[in-house]
Amino acid sequence: MTGAEEDWTLIARACAKVSESRLWRMHEEMAAFGAIPGPGVNRQAFSAEDIAARRAMLAWLKPYGFEIFVDDIANLFIRRAGRNPDLPPVTTGSHMDSQPRGGRFDGIYGVLAGIEVLFALEDAGLATEHPLEVVAWSNEEGSRFAPGAMGSMVYSGARRLDEVLDSQDGDGVVLRDALAATLAATPQARPRALGSPAAAYIEAHIEQGPLLEQQATTIGVVTGIQGTRWFSVELRGESAHAGTTPLAVRRDAFQAAVAVVNELNALVAAEPEDLRFTIGRFDVGPNTPNSVADRVSFSIDMRHPDAALVRRVGDAIMRLCDGERLGCRLSIVENFNRPPCAFAPDIVDAVEAAARLLGESHLRLASGAFHDALFMNDICPTGMIFVPCERGISHNPAENAAPADLAAGARVLLATLAGLATTHA
Ligand code: GLV
Ligand code: MN
Ligand code: MN
Repeated sequence: MTGAEEDWTLIARACAKVSESRLWRMHEEMAAFGAIPGPGVNRQAFSAEDIAARRAMLAWLKPYGFEIFVDDIANLFIRRAGRNPDLPPVTTGSHMDSQPRGGRFDGIYGVLAGIEVLFALEDAGLATEHPLEVVAWSNEEGSRFAPGAMGSMVYSGARRLDEVLDSQDGDGVVLRDALAATLAATPQARPRALGSPAAAYIEAHIEQGPLLEQQATTIGVVTGIQGTRWFSVELRGESAHAGTTPLAVRRDAFQAAVAVVNELNALVAAEPEDLRFTIGRFDVGPNTPNSVADRVSFSIDMRHPDAALVRRVGDAIMRLCDGERLGCRLSIVENFNRPPCAFAPDIVDAVEAAARLLGESHLRLASGAFHDALFMNDICPTGMIFVPCERGISHNPAENAAPADLAAGARVLLATLAGLATTHA
């Protein structure tokens, strides 16, 4: 047998140790943290539920003796030592936080698949040259504290820590305080500087779209991520009595917002149909039935795979949302702007080869959602593995995935990571 064949035999043996039932059980246990009526979870970043999930996960890991690290934005790292401690780790992971009405798989699957890989390697007694690390990135969703992908963004240097610390949630809680509580809750984790190097990064995730299921394919070999821009739009008018104030003299921020939204819809209607445009949050003040609204704010999430289009449409949105409408002051702030990214060809090939060698059906596809891999791609060779989710539904409590597909993704993850970390019995 050649060295490569020998390596593959050892890796395949470790893949056989991936346990579908253990991985599923971990999902069930994690779904208890932030459980909402029905199957979903509300485990938003730096919340009591997020903290409880982190603590439970570290408690499971205790018997294994992995080293645990945490950085200043509370990204958690679980390290399985390699033969050569001087080498940077090959890293995998995703996020543990969820949308306010989120599912049981978005994010947490990538963390649990990474842990299952560590468990299977332990069971197989397979050592790697490089250390392996599983990371749980903080605040990927951005639904409580904007922007999303905050942990990986700060880790990779795309944004400084001090630029996000004053971010507030809807109840006025400041991120700085929620972060301090989160850091204090895992004293067993050793502090580590932001941006510690990684040799490569592979993230496993549910697809969050329908393609794999439609094509009866188990593994998505992800080639890159489309570009995203997020904006906050605000209209300022004047509150007035609903019963007495003639329509003609009002400065009604709600009616002005409706006009702006209609203009925005007309703008995006002229663009290609694969442009994604979402107004997902809409706040009205003072929000009473018998007062004219004096304040409206709403979010815009805009995405497309073409960098020039993301730039052009985003800039047009910014121009449109500046000035005055119906006597109300109109302003816009951009709080997230990432061009599309292409993953490292070698990593895409490595994921594809792992799927092929393991006999899993696979296809190449680009990601419509953003992920922490988007920021890791700035600093090390990066790729992703998708597994199907039922009807492509995500950011919804009904999100679902099959235990066998989750395990198949973990096997492909193990094979890819171990290949990159070079295996020796
Ligand atoms: C990630 O949650 C995204 O919004 O794409
Ligand atoms: Mn996610
Ligand atoms: Mn998500």
